[in-house]
Amino acid sequence: MSTTGQTQAPAATPQGDPPRESVTVTDNRTGRSYELPITDGTVRATDLRQLKVTDDDFGLMAYDPGYANVAACRSAVTYLDGDAGILEYRGYPIEQLAEQSNYLEVAYLLIHGELPTPTQLDAWTHEITMHTFVHENVKSFMEGFRHDAHPMGMLLSSVGALSTFYPDAAQIDDQEIRHLQTIRLIAKVPTLAAFAYRHSRGQPYVYPDNELSYAGNFLSMMYKMTELTYHPDPRLERALDVLFILHADHEQNCSTTAVRAVGSSRVDPYSAVAGGVAALYGPLHGGANEAVLRMLKRIERKENIPDFLKGVEQGKERLMGFGHRVYKNFDPRALIIKSAAEDVFAVTGRRNPLLDVALELERIALEDEYFISHKLYPNVDFYSGLIYEALGLPVEMFPVMFAIGRTSGWVANWLEQVQDPEQRIARPRQIYTGVRKRDYVPASAR
Ligand code: CMC
Repeated sequence: MSTTGQTQAPAATPQGDPPRESVTVTDNRTGRSYELPITDGTVRATDLRQLKVTDDDFGLMAYDPGYANVAACRSAVTYLDGDAGILEYRGYPIEQLAEQSNYLEVAYLLIHGELPTPTQLDAWTHEITMHTFVHENVKSFMEGFRHDAHPMGMLLSSVGALSTFYPDAAQIDDQEIRHLQTIRLIAKVPTLAAFAYRHSRGQPYVYPDNELSYAGNFLSMMYKMTELTYHPDPRLERALDVLFILHADHEQNCSTTAVRAVGSSRVDPYSAVAGGVAALYGPLHGGANEAVLRMLKRIERKENIPDFLKGVEQGKERLMGFGHRVYKNFDPRALIIKSAAEDVFAVTGRRNPLLDVALELERIALEDEYFISHKLYPNVDFYSGLIYEALGLPVEMFPVMFAIGRTSGWVANWLEQVQDPEQRIARPRQIYTGVRKRDYVPASAR
């Protein structure tokens, strides 16, 4: 959960002493007590190092696999309260942005911290539109992938490859160069994503159409065939734009953490964002929407739901699209997506019968003791896959769609990180569990 950086004034101590912003811990190994300052609701993990048994002791470390209770940065980009189901980009509630804004405006907000004026938005939109083309050589190396290559693998490699086309991107301390890469990344990721899709279909790549909106151009690059101009259905264009908004950022999630960790080595942003795409590829993160659809197909009919849920409760499998590390309440994005799904089906006329399985699965799970006691609610991925399928996308493209929206959030976090004087190279510690010093045995003697 995000902390606001503000702590409530503490009550006086039982002894009536004025309260102190600190915690006192006693090391029972030595009987010594230490006072650790509290800042912004956190203690410095390095302050634990003073807790030692002997002088040459390394000092106490915090052990937290999966970083469940570690604040690794200060960030002003996204506020998330998982218990209350609140998500805000730069302070604006996700519900208002999804209803009233558009993706490029949201991307501007995430990157710059404020909503743009009309003039700023025009300039930003123009700049991004003018950078949607990719170098012709990108097409050649896309051709090198097998016909059945996963589009997410293709996206991950091609985003990383952009660093070879723009070697100036390595100058991350130059504000103008950082700005140019920001524009390029937001502009080119949809083009790479659409090329990956067309490759998997054996269809010719479609160049960007600068007359269209961000989402409209993406639909054109995906679906245009012989027509001279592709005219996206405005309702699908809007639904896609809303999906991009909902996926734009999500605080210190796995892929953003990957972008920050890779970026902490001060590598160029294409390499850092490729790290984010790689993290998003996994089934527990952006791959979950793909996994949800495969799961719904496997369940197939409402009558099979109780058996399936029994397997989940017995720990044999997971209910994909449910549960979240930080939301212990409804994921606000899931609520917006659920209603967008109905809008899309109204346009495409393809009301997926799996939607009924999903609705019933959600209904039963929300009343089930296992899910209630584990605080498991639908997350953003539970319904997004159904929308993507209604748009005619194969499941392999689902995480790619997530990556397009998330690019602006990755870049916003990368920009914040490279300019944060407190940040250092990501380099955690470990608890060593292996064998200690032993002598090498020649192969003949083993
Ligand atoms: N189905 C069944 N049980 C679950 C599920 C689930 N989807 N999620 C968590 N649990 C149980 C888990 O078995 C454990 O139970 P117990 O304490 O009895 O052993 C408990 O809830 C805590 O689970 P956890 O794995 O320790 O929780 P986590 O915070 O490490 O994992 C998660 C979060 C999202 C990886 C997990 O909930 C999950 O695997 N969900 C399914 C995949 C999914 O939908 N991912 C998309 C996340 S949202 C979009 C994104 O950010 O990418």
